Amino acid sequence: AITVDPSAKGAAIDDTMYGVFFEDINRAADGGLYAELVQNRSFEYSTADNGSYTPLTSWAVGGTAEVVNDSGRLNERNRNYLSLGAGSSVTNAGYNTGIRVEQGKRYDFSVWARAESGSTLTVSLKDTAGTLATARQVAVKGGWAKYKATFTATRTSNRGRLAVASANAAALDEISLFPRDTYKNQPNGLRKDLAEKIAALKPGFVRFPGGCLVNTGSMEDYSEASNWQRKRSYQWKDTIGPVEQRATNANFWGYNQSYGLGYYEYFRFSEDIGAMPLPVVPALVTGCGQNKATDDDALLKRHIQDTLDLIEFANGPATSKWGKVRAQMGHPKPFHLTHLGVGNEENLPREFFARFQQFRAAIEAEYPDITVISNSGPDDAGTTFDTAWQLNREGDVDMVDEHYYNSPNWFLQNNDRYDSYDRKGPKVFLGEYASQGNAWKNGLSEAAFMTGLERNADIVKLASYAPLLANEDYVQWRPDMIWFNNRASWNSANYEVQKLFMTNVGDRVVPSKATTTPDVSGPITGAVGLSTWATSAAYDDVKVTSADGSTLLSDDFSGDASKWTTSGRGSWSIQDGQYVQTDTAAENTMVTAGDPAWKDYDLHVKATKKSGK
Ligand code: AHR
Repeated sequence: AITVDPSAKGAAIDDTMYGVFFEDINRAADGGLYAELVQNRSFEYSTADNGSYTPLTSWAVGGTAEVVNDSGRLNERNRNYLSLGAGSSVTNAGYNTGIRVEQGKRYDFSVWARAESGSTLTVSLKDTAGTLATARQVAVKGGWAKYKATFTATRTSNRGRLAVASANAAALDEISLFPRDTYKNQPNGLRKDLAEKIAALKPGFVRFPGGCLVNTGSMEDYSEASNWQRKRSYQWKDTIGPVEQRATNANFWGYNQSYGLGYYEYFRFSEDIGAMPLPVVPALVTGCGQNKATDDDALLKRHIQDTLDLIEFANGPATSKWGKVRAQMGHPKPFHLTHLGVGNEENLPREFFARFQQFRAAIEAEYPDITVISNSGPDDAGTTFDTAWQLNREGDVDMVDEHYYNSPNWFLQNNDRYDSYDRKGPKVFLGEYASQGNAWKNGLSEAAFMTGLERNADIVKLASYAPLLANEDYVQWRPDMIWFNNRASWNSANYEVQKLFMTNVGDRVVPSKATTTPDVSGPITGAVGLSTWATSAAYDDVKVTSADGSTLLSDDFSGDASKWTTSGRGSWSIQDGQYVQTDTAAENTMVTAGDPAWKDYDLHVKATKKSGK
């Protein structure tokens, strides 16, 4: 039974309470939310990013071509370029199965080229079955200049290739192909289906750009050429300005990040979806398995100044130094930054807090209205967590970022986590959390937990599930909220839970009490949309039907295991007519229909709950 007292006034709930956390993990940016279709467009991939990379990764050469790193380069920060021999060509394979083009849609090609004696470039889009658009010819002459062409796709393909051939010798760089149709038609824009899925959540805030990617690696910046091809922590100044002048960098998650999706684009996207921007800057103490704290005072001061510059970039008038850069990029009006995180999951709480205080003092001196967010390390409890919280409390911090990834049971058992938090202490930003899996039960356990967040909305001010995006062919971390490949995207059960809460944020908590647990046994049936995973650990007789009722797949799990494939980590098998998860992290295992085309149906799932589960 649930008892509600409508006359009692609970905590007010901020409109910004539920947001999203974007990190470039699982290729969430390049090959994901960033709409660029060419992979390794500026030939900067290197073994520093990933041991298997070369500057020609994702490119095939016909004839003679060489990646060159010399003073003839396009830009100091964009070190490599391609020297293409007369009569030669290069072909890009894009991401996943290739470049996705849709019949009738337009695609904008651009290239920076130099050909002192002049040349003609022939640019074509094709797949193994033939051409995908009428080829374009581009006349090139003289020193570096940008050239453009537009294609209209004559056929739909998921396996497209972009080829550039040159009649005479030419230098090429920043070879790019964008769909014309980006989210809100922004230039250098975002992939529409993914941006729309995020926008449909109506997030209160966007935390960016990470996670571990923010706070790890060397702390040097790119202005020193000697730092080129070193793994540098994520620094916002590396990510702004014309894309051909942005440095690329090794990404913490084992690949290259072009920074085409950079700070300007993050702010613009937050504004486009009506969300509060919430950037996180490196604290000069690493986390995520690394335990380094800088003793270089000049470096620390430079990072603190960079953070002040970031606030000016976001909020300063177009006449200020960094506000002017924003205006030149196309946004004279401010982005209204109010919250900023310093650091992520540091394992050295004392070293972190000493440096955090220096950041905070400098920010408060110049921008007293900005909320500077600290954190509590990588765990939900323990010595590091307790020390961090003690320092944050004693240091009178406004808000503390907590992160945890636990089992669904943990989430069910910890609904009351924040009931006992000190009301006089710092507020909580739950910047990352997820139960370990994308199954229905995970979504349900998160929903149950979120009722506890909401009940404590006086102390829990912000919360975001993590991670947000995963390209199914390049996964470093699971579970994730939204999944995609080069042609489609689909939501998890966890997404639907987040959407439910984000699109129904109340004004105020109405105190209530539940005294019994509802009975959830019995068969389940329901329209589950394009993206629901049929989980089978607890269910038998799973039937997937399309909207017209015809059966697409059905299995009592006594039959052929090959009809189903796991999309989670770990393994599973059919034993004695029962579906069995043999993985120690069994809660993470999902089952999807074996036919990859299944996502194109409006699916309905019917399953009978196994007895005894
Ligand atoms: O969300 C994935 C990772 O989990 C984040 O990068 C990090 O902050 C946490 O450990």
